[in-house]
Formats: sequence, structure tokens, C-alpha cells
Amino acid sequence: MEILIMGGNGHVGARLATRLRDLGHGVRVGSREHGVDALTGAGLEEAMDGVEVVVDVLNTAELDPAAATAFFAGTTERIMAAERTAGVRHHVLLSIVGVDRARANGYYVGKVAQEEAVRAAGVPFSIIRATQFHDFVPTIADWLTVDGAVQAPGMLLQPVDVMDVVGVLAEVALGHPLGATVELAGPERYRLDELIRATLAARSDPREVVTIEGTALGADAADSLVPLGAHRSGALPYPVAAPPVDA
Ligand SMILES: NC(=O)c1ccc[n+]([C@@H]2O[C@H](COP(=O)([O-])OP(=O)(O)OC[C@H]3O[C@@H](n4cnc5c(N)ncnc54)[C@H](OP(=O)(O)O)[C@@H]3O)[C@@H](O)[C@H]2O)c1
Repeated sequence: MEILIMGGNGHVGARLATRLRDLGHGVRVGSREHGVDALTGAGLEEAMDGVEVVVDVLNTAELDPAAATAFFAGTTERIMAAERTAGVRHHVLLSIVGVDRARANGYYVGKVAQEEAVRAAGVPFSIIRATQFHDFVPTIADWLTVDGAVQAPGMLLQPVDVMDVVGVLAEVALGHPLGATVELAGPERYRLDELIRATLAARSDPREVVTIEGTALGADAADSLVPLGAHRSGALPYPVAAPPVDA
């Protein structure tokens, strides 16, 4: 099968490209470095010629809601218009669990607009919502650092290994369009403050972790970013021992 990965040289995309090539499929990479700009549309038509499936794992550093929406909805609309012209039969999007329950997070506002653009585009689709990646936890700690101490609430996180995300994306991309959203989370659920405490200790990072009230990442409530219903579970454990919370 011929598959175009938009963002195929990124953190998720490069690993997915390797997995699909190892399974014997033809993989094209859609990224600016590879001559494809999903914002302007440059190179999209050529990249999509003869492609059956498109996987979108694009990313942006925009945190402002209007800018994130312009990127995620704008790129999706351009990509899926090109898919309709090329006769692509399946669009797969990677999104985030609880993205619609974190209304103070401008990046997530953009991801919600992206999901809506996928559903409206008229191309058969599958949306995979994953929780935060294991290797994203140190970045969260950095974001929550104020004057050298991490200010972390006890809200819930159920992080997943990026290789479990790659496995589910590959399986879904090679199957029939789901026409629905599937959620994927890691095998254990943690309090964010405890997870960061254990992670920093394992790295001999001297930052103190102060437990605060409320939520982080713009989440509406303490359980906003964990799956609240049926979901798929990743197999790979968090690489650091931390006290889990019962789901
Ligand atoms: N981090 C998490 O915990 C987490 C959890 C769940 C879901 N996700 C989702 O996972 C997805 C992938 O994240 P990631 O960490 O793999 O991203 P990443 O490493 O930052 O990669 C971003 C990719 O987008 C490409 N790109 C950016 N702007 C582009 C443009 N205008 N045209 C074409 N390509 C463009 C980049 O390539 P060039 O620079 O060459 O253009 C790169 O391949 C994101 O949508 C994110 O929301 C992340």
C-alpha cells in the first residue's frame, strides 16, 4: 500500500514511517523539509499522486488558540481537499485524549478544530486520540517550573509510550476507515505531581515539586486528560517507577 505521512520526519512520523516500511509498504514523507508545505499547499498534489492512505501527524509550536486553529484546521482543509482530488480512500489523524475538555489550552483548541475539519471533509477517516507521551512528561515539568520549583497539581495523567501510538496508527492506517474516534492510553494512571516527582528523581534533577490546587495544561477538571470510557491500552510501562492511581 502507498501511504503518505504528513509530518513523516517528526517524532511520531519518523517512527511510523519505519514501522510501515518494515511491513513492506510504500511510504512518502510530507513535510517542508521534503518539499511539501501543508499551510501553502506547495507540493501536496504531487505527494498525493497514487496514495491510498494519508496519516496526519503534523505539529506546530503555536499555543495561541487562533494561531493553533489556523495551523491545524488550515493544514487539514488543504490536505483533505488534495485527498478528494487524488481519490485517497482513508485519512488518519492523531489527536489527544480530552482535547475538548481543556478549553483553556489554546493548542488543544486548535486540535478540536482539526478534528472538526476531518469530520467535515467528506473523506473516510479514523481519529486516534492518544494521551500525553511518556517522553513528554519532562517537558510538562519544564512548563510548570516557576522560580526553580515545579508547581504541579494532583490531576490525573495516563501517559502512553510513543511506540504504542505508532503501533495503533500503523494498524489503523492499514485497515478500513473507522469513521469514528478511538482513544489510546498507557497501562497506568498517575497523579501528575507524583509522576513528575518520580521522573525528576530518576534523572537526579534537584527541582522541588510543589503540589498545587487546580489543574495544568488548561484542563477543565482533574480527570479531563484521561480516558473516561472504553479505550485501547498501550503495553509499554512508564519507564520510571511511580505510584499508580486506581482507574
Ligand atoms: N506530545 C504528546 O504527548 C502528544 C500526545 C498525543 C498526540 N500528540 C500529537 O502528535 C502529533 C505529532 O507530534 P510530534 O511530536 O511527532 O510532532 P513533531 O516532532 O513536532 O513533528 C512535526 C512534523 O510536522 C511537520 N510540519 C510542521 N509544519 C509543517 C507544514 N507547514 N507543512 C508540512 N509539514 C509540516 C514537521 O516537518 P518539517 O519541519 O520538515 O515541515 C514535522 O515532520 C501532533 O499532532 C500532536 O498533537 C502529541
